[in-house]
Amino acid sequence: MKPHIRQAIKDDLDALLRLETICFKEETFHKERLKYLLLKAKSIVLVAEIEGNIIGSMIILLRKHILNARIYSLNVHPEYRRVGIASSLIDFLSDLLEKNGYDNITLETGITNTAAQNLYRSKGFHVDKKLSNYYTNGDDALHLIRKL
Ligand SMILES: CC(C)(COP(=O)(O)OP(=O)(O)OC[C@H]1O[C@@H](n2cnc3c(N)ncnc32)[C@H](O)[C@@H]1OP(=O)(O)O)[C@@H](O)C(=O)NCCC(=O)NCCS
Repeated sequence: MKPHIRQAIKDDLDALLRLETICFKEETFHKERLKYLLLKAKSIVLVAEIEGNIIGSMIILLRKHILNARIYSLNVHPEYRRVGIASSLIDFLSDLLEKNGYDNITLETGITNTAAQNLYRSKGFHVDKKLSNYYTNGDDALHLIRKL
């Protein structure tokens, strides 16, 4: 299934929040945090749409003068999983970052999140290091990197 990928705008906030709630994870964002990430932070927020509905999102954090982009959040609506939505979001991001001269993409993912680990491996990421006790519930994470 080929989604339409674009950068999010202010009016997407409620749809992003709904998606975040549906894909609830332990460390979900509250509205104010999401609003900050969308409007004020040095970030890229991407959305994936099918028939005009937002069914996937990705938040990427950037830092001034640093050519590393960090995937901070990636969600796909449960009814649209395994059809290549996350993969399309990562491809769109990679193109955008390459055009802007970035060197790497990094991220952290839960050590038990095999879906995410398979996804990232299939997109050329590799494990850089293990982060013990990374999440507030004490779970470990993996730090992954992909060179652009
Ligand atoms: C992880 C997640 C983003 C994957 O999104 P998706 O759109 O279903 O992924 P894609 O369809 O692009 O999958 C691409 C590849 O990733 C791997 N993959 C994705 N989901 C998988 C699963 N549940 N089990 C095993 N491998 C999986 C497969 O290799 C897949 O290729 P294939 O379908 O040809 O076998 C989605 O399951 C999700 O939103 N999970 C909850 C939030 C989350 O964990 N986010 C990541 C945090 S770092």
